[in-house]
Amino acid sequence: MVKAKTTAPPRPRNTEPIYAHIVGWGVGLPERTMTNDDLTAFVDTSDEWIKARTGIHERRIANSKETTATLGLKAAQAALNIADILPTDIDLIICATSSPEYIFPSTASVIQAWLGASNAGAFDLSAACSGFVYAVDMAAQSIRSGSITTAVVIGSETFSRVIDWTDRGTAILFGDGAGAVVLSASSIEGGVLSSVLRSDGSGAEMLGIPTVGSIDIADIPTIGVNEGHKMGKMHMNGGEVFKFAIRVIGESITQALDLAGLTVADLKLIVPHQANLRIIQAAARALKVDESLFMCNLDRFGNTSAASIPIALCEAVALGRVVPGDNIAFVGFGGGLTWASMIVQWSDPQSEDRSRLLTRQRREISYRVAWWRARLIRISRQIDDLVRRIRPQRGRMERLRRNMDRSDF
Ligand code: ACO
Repeated sequence: MVKAKTTAPPRPRNTEPIYAHIVGWGVGLPERTMTNDDLTAFVDTSDEWIKARTGIHERRIANSKETTATLGLKAAQAALNIADILPTDIDLIICATSSPEYIFPSTASVIQAWLGASNAGAFDLSAACSGFVYAVDMAAQSIRSGSITTAVVIGSETFSRVIDWTDRGTAILFGDGAGAVVLSASSIEGGVLSSVLRSDGSGAEMLGIPTVGSIDIADIPTIGVNEGHKMGKMHMNGGEVFKFAIRVIGESITQALDLAGLTVADLKLIVPHQANLRIIQAAARALKVDESLFMCNLDRFGNTSAASIPIALCEAVALGRVVPGDNIAFVGFGGGLTWASMIVQWSDPQSEDRSRLLTRQRREISYRVAWWRARLIRISRQIDDLVRRIRPQRGRMERLRRNMDRSDF
């Protein structure tokens, strides 16, 4: 009997359990800040109203050169520095985003090329503000199954480009930014302990961004409206989303805690999606915990959708609010409707036995090589294309045919 050919030897069966630890984290933030007062120049609102109803004081807004991919790249590079690994060691890159530049290529693929992560698969994940928790769960599941060992998960958004600036119900809420984590396989117990991912698509019309596939706007793609919603612009029923958020935060954290065999008393910190201070306060009341258990930095960044949890997480780590051994919770909610909770036991990346202590310089070289490689490939394609257009007879196929004509066979 002929054996089927395989492209790679089968992986050895795992006998030991594998855990997925967060070993790196970082942010990529636009430099420009827009305060509530700045907003009042073109939105019918006031600093007092925004602070009182949302808790937001200011947000970051991308400049013309900053994109979802460039901010995501910055965050991924910062996370790789903490994890101290080379881009070539990454097996998988997931970017959670609802504001990509393209439907495809994915933002994750663009970042993969810029990092020089030549051994990684890459894809975007669309679950709005729950996207980061969904993506960390996907990466952790892949690690625990033994199919990969290292993943980079990014939440990155430039919502300033999809906000309808004439709609004061949404224009005041959102900001731009990115956060990332590196997950790594380990035999040490801990890391991602449990997660709960949920969706209720019957609430789809509550918030969304109609795009090119939307049937009602197919004929007028640049100026179209879909059931009163503008093409490529976000719409939201704020009041309904508010009620939904309060209901699911407490419920899903409790479910994730049950799965991890823990209670809310075991939590050192909850890092929620940064949507509205009043939502966080109501969730604290529902869980019967002090508001201080929640990490909150929306006053300075507003709602950065899929990026808000990793941005808040990085600040919590920098402030010493999370230390190795702590149990923490992530909770996201938003468009879909979707929601997700996760319990993580925080790890100390330095406590693991790392045989390869790599320098920042080696990574920098890798990024530069990736940058030049991408440009050289593009230039070589352009030259090839130009040569073929100017002198089609000198094209590669033509040369090949002539060489074959000249040869004896
Ligand atoms: N400035 C001044 N006044 C305003 C503004 C504004 N920006 N927006 C609304 N108002 C007025 C309204 O016109 C209304 O006036 P009226 O009483 O005279 O009619 C009054 O303020 C109250 O309006 P509401 O819409 O009831 O205000 P509310 O307290 O619900 O706050 C908000 C609105 C901030 C949008 C809130 O509903 C909210 O935060 N919702 C949740 C958003 C969220 O969590 N999204 C997460 C998911 S995002 C994602 O997935 C991408």
